[in-house]
Amino acid sequence: MAVGTSQTEGPSGAPSPASAGEHGTASGETLHMQLWRGDKDGGQFVEYQVPAQEGEVVLDVVHRIQASHAPDLAVRWNCKAGKCGSCSAEINGVPALMCMTRMSTLDTASPITVSPMRTFPVLRDLVTDVSFNFEVAKLIPSFTPAPPPPGGYRMQQVDVERGQEFRKCIECFLCQNVCHVIRDHEENKAHYAGPRFFVRLAELEMHPLDTLDRRAYVRERMGVGYCNITKCCTEVCPEGIHITDNAIIPLKERVVDSRYDPVAWLGRKILRRPAPMTAAEAAAHTSAATRGVSDAAR
Ligand code: SF4
Ligand code: SF4
Ligand code: FES
Repeated sequence: MAVGTSQTEGPSGAPSPASAGEHGTASGETLHMQLWRGDKDGGQFVEYQVPAQEGEVVLDVVHRIQASHAPDLAVRWNCKAGKCGSCSAEINGVPALMCMTRMSTLDTASPITVSPMRTFPVLRDLVTDVSFNFEVAKLIPSFTPAPPPPGGYRMQQVDVERGQEFRKCIECFLCQNVCHVIRDHEENKAHYAGPRFFVRLAELEMHPLDTLDRRAYVRERMGVGYCNITKCCTEVCPEGIHITDNAIIPLKERVVDSRYDPVAWLGRKILRRPAPMTAAEAAAHTSAATRGVSDAAR
């Protein structure tokens, strides 16, 4: 049952991070779960005490609380297998998937807090509005290959594997949630894409069959320069994508080359390669692609 409340102004006031070690939860032990309850106007942690059951993940316990104590508790989930990216939250202040966080990895001797992701507006309880991410996704100029040559497209295995790592992304947005550029600065969302979309842009920019040059756009509109490679995004990625090393750093290198490398500039002049796409051109390309999709859907 709900046994009390601890007053906070918002979901950000979670106590210290979870211990990473194995603790073990004995069946019958009482769990002290503090779930954040509230909406965009504010809320608080509410404590629920439920008996522990062996082999559970945090989402199991949240579901038991929802079934037995708080039927109006809002929680988003779908697959319970770490693949849909829906159940992202902050467990003891650490961004994680509820369905992939075993209770046995948490110190159940102390209360366990579960709060919504802090970077996005709260809709209700543990559910946030992540539409910012879908708006950014719409701005990214899509994959644009040249017409297939005789015999079809061919790629080196190394290029296939690079893309496969990036495509493991489940869009849980935990990396977006932890990135300090937007976590603490709402105003940066207007000109910063965030790590999930640097992964997408890196995939496109390094794709050997893609013909667009998005480097100027990555700098001007997607704001890659704001990232100072703290690697916090990489640390929380449940798919183990090396976001900083394999996506952001190569993307930054490409952006710097296109703007400041005089040899690359001269090479472009001599070989008459197209200049990198500007933000305006990228927007025009994206809107043309969107029109194409909606025309095709008619
Ligand atoms: S490495 Fe860059 S994108 Fe990742 S969390 Fe740090 S600032 Fe954000
Ligand atoms: S890159 Fe990793 S942390 Fe970021 S949205 Fe994709 S799966 Fe989640
Ligand atoms: S419920 Fe799908 S990732 Fe957790």
